[in-house]
Amino acid sequence: MALATLNDDVSTPFVKAQFSDRVLIRTILSRPDGGAGLAGQTVKVGGWVKTGREQGKGSFAFLELNDGSCPANLQVIVDAAVAPLGQLVQTGTCVHVEGLLKVPPEGTKQRVELRVEKVHHVGPVDPAKYPLPKTRLTLEFLRDFVHFRPRTNTISAVARIRNALAYATHTFFQNHSFLYIHTPIVTTSDCEGAGEMFQVTTLISDAEKVEKELIKNPPPSEADIEAAKALVKEKGEAVAQLKSAKASKGEITASVAELNKAKENLSRLEERSKLKPGIPQKDGKIDYSQDFFARQAFLTVSGQLQVETYACAVSSVYTFGPTFRAEHSHTSRHLAEFWMVEPEIAFADLKDDMNCAEAYVKFLCQWLLDNCIDDMEFMAKNFDKGCIDRLRMVASTSFERISYTEAIKLLEEAVKKDKKFENKVEWGIDLASEHERFLTEVLFKKPVIVHDYPKGIKAFYMRLNDDMKTVAAMDVLVPKVGELIGGSQREERYEVIEKRILEMGLPLEPYEWYLDLRRYGTVKHCGFGLGFERMILFATGIDNIRDVIPFPRYPGRADL
Ligand code: 4AD
Ligand code: MG
Repeated sequence: MALATLNDDVSTPFVKAQFSDRVLIRTILSRPDGGAGLAGQTVKVGGWVKTGREQGKGSFAFLELNDGSCPANLQVIVDAAVAPLGQLVQTGTCVHVEGLLKVPPEGTKQRVELRVEKVHHVGPVDPAKYPLPKTRLTLEFLRDFVHFRPRTNTISAVARIRNALAYATHTFFQNHSFLYIHTPIVTTSDCEGAGEMFQVTTLISDAEKVEKELIKNPPPSEADIEAAKALVKEKGEAVAQLKSAKASKGEITASVAELNKAKENLSRLEERSKLKPGIPQKDGKIDYSQDFFARQAFLTVSGQLQVETYACAVSSVYTFGPTFRAEHSHTSRHLAEFWMVEPEIAFADLKDDMNCAEAYVKFLCQWLLDNCIDDMEFMAKNFDKGCIDRLRMVASTSFERISYTEAIKLLEEAVKKDKKFENKVEWGIDLASEHERFLTEVLFKKPVIVHDYPKGIKAFYMRLNDDMKTVAAMDVLVPKVGELIGGSQREERYEVIEKRILEMGLPLEPYEWYLDLRRYGTVKHCGFGLGFERMILFATGIDNIRDVIPFPRYPGRADL
């Protein structure tokens, strides 16, 4: 961000990257003069060759060099006298070179190019084996090479946009005095109560270790133990005899030592005889008291419940971390591991929640327009013509707000006018993605906040409305994606939330600490969760969520 303006003044020399031995290509090419003002300066750059070609009958080569600092490549020219060209021109080759920046001849599209004088490093590539040739590759193909795909234009642009959105997230919440709270990844409470949690256990690996050990070193037989017991008895008697015969101190000590050895051997054998293959069981159930945490534990589906403990103490907080859901959904909107931004605000109701969500999403959109326009232009050119206009629209338009009941009415009217949905529309249904997208893309053509959903389709912690039928929930729906945010005002009344937990068939015990927040010093509060990858889908127009997270995890797949 600061870099874009660093070299606005063309008279300032380029800035060498701190902490590494080169100049970022961005600091050369993102100047308003495209780098022309730096002509005559000697610089060192490093990067990976996008394309290379030998020219002038092999007397020199052009390399398009990219270091990931910006979407643009620096054109680099190497003479055959400086380095063997055959190796340098292969796509994927790493080069670290030093040379003179020059204004290229009239008629070329570059404003500056680098004439290499010294090659400091070459990380070669065997083109017959390198899996990413320079031809255009599909995002689906690239998912088989997650370790190489950041070298592509698309995945590196997504990485910069993702980084910018993370920075913008912290900026937004810090500007509004929210504290960033690190909530646990391993948890013992199911926030959404949907039973979609991955279990964390060492019981399986422990059982495997025991099985292996027992094969290598079989457990003692009954007879071995009997023999060891007999030996203890014999050695005990020997000690007694020596004592009654008033033997010398030395003799008694030696005999006691032998007895102790026999006892140790017996207890070791008895210990080993208890080793049983398989998962430990008690009363016909898995015995979690022998597990790592001495109880069942899971990966979190949301940091909300834990962050609420801080909201109910330091008032405005947020958590931003990975969350995990063992849903078997193979859609383009679901991951098994995704990142969520979850603010939680005390002394605030559903309206405040909606206001915060709207301001935050607008801020993110404006941030990308202000700080990532080159990457956004790349997305508009290659993936979604309308993505920049969509950001502008969202940054400047107020979101539509309608109740769930109104939303159902609108959908029913559409059905009457022959709109076909795969899922039936009636009050009480959970809105399907097709309904959400119809509301935001077709009916309103802008973000829509749907609020006050039926209590039957929402989590136990949402505040029950006076109609006793709906809860103070809200979902932010956006074009391209559907549900981007899910949030609610929380049920702060002890009696009501206790009833809701029981009504939903959940056990009270794991939520006792959560109920304590209502027992002692309860406060009106609310919060929401923004699916970070969904935000990137919305911004970039990329179709599949697997391509906007560096290392996608979904059913059947967890590479690296
Ligand atoms: O609506 P959800 O389930 O809400 C919660 O988890 C609340 N505890 C949040 C809160 O109030 N603090 O999830 C929030 C958002 C969804 O709107 C969606 O954008 C995203 O998380 N999301 C997923 N993103 C990718 N893959 C999945 N499997 C997702 N499930 C939810
Ligand atoms: Mg939701």
